[in-house]
Amino acid sequence: MSEFLKLDRLTLGYGDTVAVEALDFAMQPGELVALLGPSGCGKTTTMRAIAGLMTPLGGTITLDGRDITRVPPNKRGVGLVFQSYALFPHLTVFENVAFGLRLARVPRVELTQRVDKALASTGLLHLAQRLPRELSGGQQQRVALARSIVVEPKLLLLDEPLSNLDARLRLEMRSELSRLQRELGIAMIYVTHDQSEALALADRIIVMRDGRIEQAGTPDAIYERPASVFVAGFMGFENTFVIHNGLLAGIAPIGFEVRDAVGLAWRPHAVVLGQGPHRGTVAGASYLGQVVEYLLTTPLGDIKAEAPASAPRHQAGETIAFDLPEASAVRLPRA
Ligand SMILES: Nc1ncnc2c1ncn2[C@@H]1O[C@H](COP(=O)(O)OP(=O)(O)O)[C@@H](O)[C@H]1O
Ligand SMILES: [Mg+2]
Repeated sequence: MSEFLKLDRLTLGYGDTVAVEALDFAMQPGELVALLGPSGCGKTTTMRAIAGLMTPLGGTITLDGRDITRVPPNKRGVGLVFQSYALFPHLTVFENVAFGLRLARVPRVELTQRVDKALASTGLLHLAQRLPRELSGGQQQRVALARSIVVEPKLLLLDEPLSNLDARLRLEMRSELSRLQRELGIAMIYVTHDQSEALALADRIIVMRDGRIEQAGTPDAIYERPASVFVAGFMGFENTFVIHNGLLAGIAPIGFEVRDAVGLAWRPHAVVLGQGPHRGTVAGASYLGQVVEYLLTTPLGDIKAEAPASAPRHQAGETIAFDLPEASAVRLPRA
């Protein structure tokens, strides 16, 4: 496979502080990669380095076969969209989008064509003559997007671009971004701290932790087979337990071979209710249509379980047996 973007032992920092350490990462042309991780793990720092806004302490960045580690930002063919739109308040939507092309002295006819195309693909054509203050937050973010795609970057970096928008708009923009990415076939790195956003959008997810890559893989792989307790927790995996000396949560022997795992996790549908060696008290039951979700208080900690709505129902306060079957445990090899 051809490597379109390659980060090779990229190390980044501020003064004496190392923020990103020896990052290795490669992506394919046209790929949409989500960079996912908690605040402060080094996502923005990595984007800034790829865009050329900071000089690495070590390592190299290669884009489309060319070492761009020391190439100035405007010569990289990398577009960057931030959470804050930073539009020019005194320029119309059209002129905001045209700005980069004017700087590059693109001829007038071509400029108009390209701006109109970028406005059309972001659904802004009818707003071309408005000023930013006459637009909603979502529309302003679209202008920022149009402004970055009009210069036809090889790679587009989006750093938490939707986090200033309300929940409904975020969902709408999410699917538009995904459409736009398919239409333009442009490689994108989408930075987010929101796991559902990463799952919904990405071809591949890179989970970062403390300036390092914790796990990289397809959304399915990361969601189904988290490689660590950290990733499981971050991906909203329910029923994750850390093993101490072969004991689950330090209380009950788990009764099966845990091999090298330091943690075990079960999806709510994998918890067997009504039989098994463990006992729990039903703290709550929610009917969700096809299934009923139970929250159990147990000596192992809280357990979330799911049962088909057709199965016998349990009431709050009831004590029930449950099992955490070995076959459906997800093993977490690292902390
Ligand atoms: N301008 C700066 N000066 C010093 N430290 C910084 C600066 N920007 C970020 N950092 C530090 O670098 C680390 C990574 O930050 P950042 O890349 O912004 O994380 P993220 O985008 O994942 O939230 C954090 O520890 C942060 O405090
Ligand atoms: Mg950030």
